[in-house]
Amino acid sequence: MNADNPPVRRLADWPADRLDSLADEYDTPLYVLDLDRVRENYRRMARAFPDADVHYAAKANTVRPVLQALADEGAGIECASPGELQRALDAEVPPEHVQYTAVNPPDGDLDRAVELAADRPELTFTAGAADTVDRLAERGYDGRLCIRVNPGVGAGHHEKVATGADAKFGVPYDDVPDLLDSAREDFDVVGIHAHAGSGISGEDLSAHRELVSRMGDLAREVAHRGIDLEFVDIGGGFGVPYSPDEDPLNLDAVAEATREAVGSIDATLAVEPGRYLVADAGVLLTRVNTVKEAPGATVVGVGAGMTDLARPAIYDAHHEIRSLSDEWEDRPTREVTVVGPVCESSDTFGEHDLPAPERGDLLAIGNAGAYGYEMASQYNSRPRPASVVLADDSATPARRRETMADVTAVEERR
Ligand code: LLP
Repeated sequence: MNADNPPVRRLADWPADRLDSLADEYDTPLYVLDLDRVRENYRRMARAFPDADVHYAAKANTVRPVLQALADEGAGIECASPGELQRALDAEVPPEHVQYTAVNPPDGDLDRAVELAADRPELTFTAGAADTVDRLAERGYDGRLCIRVNPGVGAGHHEKVATGADAKFGVPYDDVPDLLDSAREDFDVVGIHAHAGSGISGEDLSAHRELVSRMGDLAREVAHRGIDLEFVDIGGGFGVPYSPDEDPLNLDAVAEATREAVGSIDATLAVEPGRYLVADAGVLLTRVNTVKEAPGATVVGVGAGMTDLARPAIYDAHHEIRSLSDEWEDRPTREVTVVGPVCESSDTFGEHDLPAPERGDLLAIGNAGAYGYEMASQYNSRPRPASVVLADDSATPARRRETMADVTAVEERR
């Protein structure tokens, strides 16, 4: 792999001085996202899948500079809601590169999406149920349509993200050819799509192979019926190493397995990475506010909590933590439990070996570029944190820190 574009950026690789001065300038908790790294990740993905279209799953991080940088690199943008669709269009992503994957969409979502498509016939909509297809037709939509398939095979870093085997997602595999056949009377049928789940790991590609080979079979069956597909989208889920001892995904091996499994199809392959493009491009900076010796544990309270980064609370996800204290080399390593300020037991970043933390220390939480800010909440009436974006050695604020006025802005006061 090219030395200028390593397959992973570890938390230890981030320049401490730079992060320290950003924390001083913008206060903490602070999301820092390096756009140059996002571009590197995209280029590695595009190189591994040279014949495929790469659609970025925007749900991982929708901040405008990310959408713009990826579109500028040539990525399409896959949106999970009309809100994301609006964001992609606002970021001036060309509509022919934008897809909307509707999951049990409320009426208002379909109304909005169809309204956006009225002047943009290049948009593609993906429906995961026959009902969604009917409801699009009822709204007069007759544009580009893709069907999301339930491939019957799921994978993922946690049971809560193994979508492929979950009946909630996609049209049952065996029903897809008939649905495509009938849909082509009303729509421009362009593709089939499936997503196994989040967190393809290099150790076990069997679920991925199985999904891809099922999609290849389906594409051939559909072609046999005389339906021309433009693309076969095999979803995202390309994993990243969250622990320092985990190896990065061998993307070339995944791409090779994909090519083998899909077989010969008369359509372009599409992949939909989210996390892979943004996770290691982001860190969350936070300061230690409390150090407490308790029976059986040293508890280190920090400013960021589950409201800022929800993954540990929801999926028991591990995120590496690094001390950016000037004196870290002189301090003994301690096993500590890092917790946030939210009044919930699940508000914890787990156990970490850190140079004995002290009040005021700056900590960096790694791999925070994917599903970090996106899943942030205002629980406990906590304003959401700020984000800055780094590009070409300069830092630009991307989201200001919320205030209590933002938290209460929607409240009716009589
Ligand atoms: N395509 C579709 C249709 C998806 O539903 C998803 C993720 C992706 C692509 C991108 O998956 P990725 O490459 O980022 O793994 N909040 C969870 C992840 C949920 C992902 C849901 N769908 C997490 O923080 O791990």
